[in-house]
Amino acid sequence: MTELPVPAVAVIVVAAGSGSRLGRDQPKAFVPLGAHSILEHALTGVFGLEEPAQVIVVAPDAQLDEARSIAARVAGPAAGYLDVVAGGDTRQASVARGLAAVRAGVSVVLVHDAARALTPSSLIAAVVAAVRAAGHGIVPGLPVVDTIKSVTADATIQGTVDRSLLSAVQTPQGFPRAMLDAAFAWAAGLPGTDAAAQDLTDDAALVAAAGNPVTVIPGDPLAFKVTTAWDLRRAELLLGENEPTPASALPRVGTGLDVHAFDDTSALWLAGLHWPGERGLSGHSDGDAAVHAICDALLAAAGLGDIGQVFGTADPRLTDAHGEVFLAETLRLIEEAGYRVGNVTVQIIGNRPKLSPRRAEAEELLSGILHAPVSVAATTTDALGFTGRDEGIAALATAVIYPSIYRPSPKLNQ
Ligand code: CTP
Ligand code: MG
Repeated sequence: MTELPVPAVAVIVVAAGSGSRLGRDQPKAFVPLGAHSILEHALTGVFGLEEPAQVIVVAPDAQLDEARSIAARVAGPAAGYLDVVAGGDTRQASVARGLAAVRAGVSVVLVHDAARALTPSSLIAAVVAAVRAAGHGIVPGLPVVDTIKSVTADATIQGTVDRSLLSAVQTPQGFPRAMLDAAFAWAAGLPGTDAAAQDLTDDAALVAAAGNPVTVIPGDPLAFKVTTAWDLRRAELLLGENEPTPASALPRVGTGLDVHAFDDTSALWLAGLHWPGERGLSGHSDGDAAVHAICDALLAAAGLGDIGQVFGTADPRLTDAHGEVFLAETLRLIEEAGYRVGNVTVQIIGNRPKLSPRRAEAEELLSGILHAPVSVAATTTDALGFTGRDEGIAALATAVIYPSIYRPSPKLNQ
């Protein structure tokens, strides 16, 4: 096995907090974010650094093994650079534990919140480069966009803070190792009542309080901290954009074709409507080719077979049944299979009846039954074929359906 080069950078990933504001029954770093834990996402960014870096994961006592296995999985061949240590009661105490594990040869130390799960590797690399260039502390920060008020304990506004002087800082925060070591040693030597010795929420505050310069470089919106349930949801949505949509979540399409011969002894029912004075169509039911084509398209989209299979001609309920019966039952079947209708189109092929005067009526009726838009069109075949010879009517339908979880209410489809 080849020896790993000695790293000049260490990244302390603090993951020992409980996450009280997230309010889950496990420590925040171990809460799932999509398919992986928050910690695993954060470490993916850290191990994405191009230059070799020691990675020190600071985990709760009770989760050390879990943290080790997550980190080893992300580290892969770089597992030799990995250390996992137990955290303390405050963030500052956890950072101090991590700092004690920094290896010889490291000259730049970064401290990073595991809770900033989506922090890109590019931001981590930018902090390392800026520490080297400046020779002092570097924190990424974003301009504050909201108007900030100072308020009293009873929520009375005292004044407006000049936001141009503010920066919302993130992690990783980077320091020359000696500067960070010295700041922590200085804080450890202060009396317990001194503010700088207590729980500061970031490392720049401690390093600055110890008298060192710290400057801000541009942060990254993706480095936001998962603190509340709302942040977790935001992170989930952002992740979803990068992950391929699973086949089970994609819309499905189906086509259906039906043909019926004219039969002068029947009334015409087509596209769910009765057409007085027009030649009827033969068939076990009312012969509504347009409705039958729609049912076939819907059933095909859901993978439920076809109309002949689902509605056997032997079923007495279907003798002379009109379109509504077929459509309502088809809808019930596809909803039972976990889908909702996106939209449907049907084209009627034949010389008669003339559709256009009643198109809107047909569309309204069919859309109402399916709780989704249905478009109805018609065409002739230029006197060709059985439709051109006035022997019958054909109808061709296309249906799009969605897995129901992505279409919360049928009413929204319209
Ligand atoms: N952290 C830590 N040790 C602590 C407290 C916090 O390692 N004793 C870590 C958290 O795991 C987190 C980071 O510091 O990655 C930033 O802290 P915060 O977002 O406040 O996390 P929690 O303290 O866990 O959450 P909360 O304040 O809501 O309880
Ligand atoms: Mg906290």
